[in-house]
Amino acid sequence: MEDSNSNSKKKIVVFASGNGTNAVNIYHYFRNNKNIEVSHIFSNNKKSKVLRRAHDLGIKCVHFEKEDLYDSPSLINVIKDIDPSIIAFAGFLLKVPESFLAAFPKQIINIHPSLLPKYGGEGMYGERVFRKILKNRDKESGITIHYVNEEYDEGEIIAQIKLELNNDEDLNSLEEKIHSLEYEHYPKVIEKLLT
Ligand code: GAR
Repeated sequence: MEDSNSNSKKKIVVFASGNGTNAVNIYHYFRNNKNIEVSHIFSNNKKSKVLRRAHDLGIKCVHFEKEDLYDSPSLINVIKDIDPSIIAFAGFLLKVPESFLAAFPKQIINIHPSLLPKYGGEGMYGERVFRKILKNRDKESGITIHYVNEEYDEGEIIAQIKLELNNDEDLNSLEEKIHSLEYEHYPKVIEKLLT
């Protein structure tokens, strides 16, 4: 694990566990920005697509074990060395312990694929959220960007963006709509927080 304090840009560290399309989207959004950059992508999942994507793009990536988050100060120290302005969760599925939150107050944010508090909480991520929305035949849905606290999906809300749902919405169409909304808004919300 290495540090990247070689320039004066504000740094975003992205945490992701799975696919990583949001992580890569955030990276691309800031790629030519003079003041802000995605400096690292961290993942707890060694086999995740996000680590492969980050590696292919030449983004510094760090794999850590779940225990590093819960049981030792080493992960906190590595991130403190990087000195990010924001830690952005993008499909990161682990609960965050108090020690980690206390080390980065008001700096950790998350994106969730529903209008919280609807369809939040433990086990509610990705496709599971979409299936519930479809089952309930909701007329609208959207995304939530919020600060992270010690409970799943319960931190202070920063932004919510809504969209209307059609009667014939299916898993694919809903997923596509939500992802488009995420790609459009998450980087902008991060930028706003940093400027
Ligand atoms: C995103 O849709 C994000 O909102 C969701 O995981 C997906 C990750 O996609 N997060 C949650 O459900 C958190 N509870 P990606 O890996 O392709 O960016």
